[in-house]
Amino acid sequence: MGFYSRVVFPRLLDWSMSGAAFAAQRQQLLKEVTGNVLEIGFGTGLNLAYYPEALEQLTIVDPNPGVNAIAQKRIQASDIQVQSQIISGESLPMADETFDSVVSTWTLCSIPQVEQALAETARVLKPEGRFFFIEHGLSPEPDVQLWQNRLTPVQKIIADGCYLNRPIQALLEQRFKLLRLDTFYEPGFPKVASYFYRGIAAKA
Ligand SMILES: C[S@@+](CC[C@H](N)C(=O)[O-])C[C@H]1O[C@@H](n2cnc3c(N)ncnc32)[C@H](O)[C@@H]1O
Repeated sequence: MGFYSRVVFPRLLDWSMSGAAFAAQRQQLLKEVTGNVLEIGFGTGLNLAYYPEALEQLTIVDPNPGVNAIAQKRIQASDIQVQSQIISGESLPMADETFDSVVSTWTLCSIPQVEQALAETARVLKPEGRFFFIEHGLSPEPDVQLWQNRLTPVQKIIADGCYLNRPIQALLEQRFKLLRLDTFYEPGFPKVASYFYRGIAAKA
């Protein structure tokens, strides 16, 4: 992993994902999370403040040691017991049917083999478990899609592998049934990066 990914990008990520609009989305999504929880792509730990107190246990994975270093400061300041692993979502060491809830916030855009990570997410969820997600991805508007496709190569460089144009709903439906899905443009952000998919899914 290069200097930009390990040192520069984590600070950029923490700054860019800390705003009030993101905080409101985090709070709304995470209030229903329960039990033994896994978060994939934990980033700098910006979700930590919004997990319910009743949470039993939180395990987090993210392959970037630079973002994990920032996350550790938030983990140490939190009352939640966190098991942290610097690994990728495509290959999880946990047993089948371990977690009541899996969480992903703006992470499916950045996982290189996203279909493999979703297969792993489904594998480690209990049969009655739920997958909580908020992601940005492919817009339904053709003119926005055009720019999402044009700008993705640049975005991947700046944002460390992030695609603007992933078809999030179609990807999710390969492994999950959607219990709830809201799609919308987040106000105040460029349309290419702000078509959000927020919801809850169960194993298909
Ligand atoms: C846009 S950031 C979102 C961070 C965090 N979820 C948040 O809401 O602030 C995407 C995250 O995905 C992580 N990521 C990249 N590749 C990954 C992989 N293969 N498995 C799991 N996470 C990955 C990155 O390190 C980064 O922390």
